[in-house]
Amino acid sequence: MLHVIERALSLRSSYDHSFAVEVYEDISDPGLIGWIKRHVGERTALVVTTPTVNRLYGTHIQKSFDYAGAKPEWIVLKCSEEKKKLEYVERVCLAASHAGLDRRGVLISLGGGVCSDIVTMASSMLRRGISHLRIPTTLIGQIDAGVGIKGGVNFGAHKNYLGCYHPPEAVAIVPSFLATVGSNGIRQGLAEMIKVACTSDVILFEQLERARPGEIESWVSSGDRRARELIVRSISAILCELERNPFERSGYERALDFGHTLAHPLEASTNYKLHHGFAVAIDLAFSALLAQGLGWLDAGSCRRIIGALTSSALPLWHEHLSLDFIRDAFRASAKHRGGEINMTLPTSIGTYAFLKREQQCSPGLIESILRSLRQLESQRSDGDLDLPSRACATKFPGAFVTQIKVAELP
Ligand SMILES: NC(=O)c1ccc[n+]([C@@H]2O[C@H](COP(=O)([O-])OP(=O)(O)OC[C@H]3O[C@@H](n4cnc5c(N)ncnc54)[C@H](O)[C@@H]3O)[C@@H](O)[C@H]2O)c1
Repeated sequence: MLHVIERALSLRSSYDHSFAVEVYEDISDPGLIGWIKRHVGERTALVVTTPTVNRLYGTHIQKSFDYAGAKPEWIVLKCSEEKKKLEYVERVCLAASHAGLDRRGVLISLGGGVCSDIVTMASSMLRRGISHLRIPTTLIGQIDAGVGIKGGVNFGAHKNYLGCYHPPEAVAIVPSFLATVGSNGIRQGLAEMIKVACTSDVILFEQLERARPGEIESWVSSGDRRARELIVRSISAILCELERNPFERSGYERALDFGHTLAHPLEASTNYKLHHGFAVAIDLAFSALLAQGLGWLDAGSCRRIIGALTSSALPLWHEHLSLDFIRDAFRASAKHRGGEINMTLPTSIGTYAFLKREQQCSPGLIESILRSLRQLESQRSDGDLDLPSRACATKFPGAFVTQIKVAELP
């Protein structure tokens, strides 16, 4: 609506979007074929996937598109973290242009978080924004990257420095893809699951800690019903958090940034050899000890967080961590989060607060945390780590379609 106020003109606008995240049994599920029919149908479309996913599932998924009467073009891109660059976004845009995508056309990411981050960026730029669909095939993709609204690429020395907010039109979750992801891929996803459980879902946290070491990994890779419940529960928690402040316009205090203050610079410092999920795990461990050191978190809860990370065989320490590294990460975070560090720290399982300024934690405290982390890591390799006792969990009823409404207020 255009308002004329004396001689000044102003424009108010709002953006309202909602998308559904639907969970299907496997790639032959008739529901998935219906989903493709509904969202792709006869539109011009381009599927972007990775060599591994194409080798494992390309033929099968192409059949599902055929059954649905959709005829998308395909592009197979080596989407790895090192390749998560603007150049790869341009490659997708070029393929979209060759495929003749029009304004109603749709991009479909079929792959992990890197693939969906690149495709989200490309779809936000093509013709100033076209639709995109996501079929995430990794655990991080299914519970986090694929159900969020952000896309991004690494730029210069910074992780996700260039990016966009561009919600998908729809997301299809097929947990059976995870059968081939492997132990590392599952554990990386578990780090994000522990993150959201800690801040936003006590029951999920209890379910995670009640599982025996390695048990969740085996549920995920065997397609066990319990893995599916954990996945759905994590997605629900992530969507609830996202809905509060989807475009990060109402502030930079975000629960979902738990584990993401040191993680990004840590990944970048290894030239992205350290995977995102593992960097998040290390950040979660540091954050838990920092919260305890500040007197914000009791020792028992801190031990439970470290215990959840340890029993998922996640790392707690990296050689690049030092006092200077932490200070630089705090400063980089403040630049990114409106002038304050806004580091999410747990205050119990299910609650959190934000570290605002570097001065809130002394160099001595940081150094003692780094010593503790190094020690915990070495105790774990020696098999001496005393894990907290398992808490009991309540049964999750299970919801298989979940909807997010994303509204930007004027
Ligand atoms: N946009 C967001 O909100 C958001 C949230 C969380 C993470 N991320 C991003 O996600 C990325 C990490 O994603 P990721 O963990 O999926 O890693 P990834 O995308 O790098 O995928 C890892 C590897 O797994 C392979 N793969 C994918 N599916 C497979 C399958 N079913 N079986 C076997 N192999 C398979 C891929 O080909 C790739 O080589 C990071 O760049 C991170 O920044 C983004």
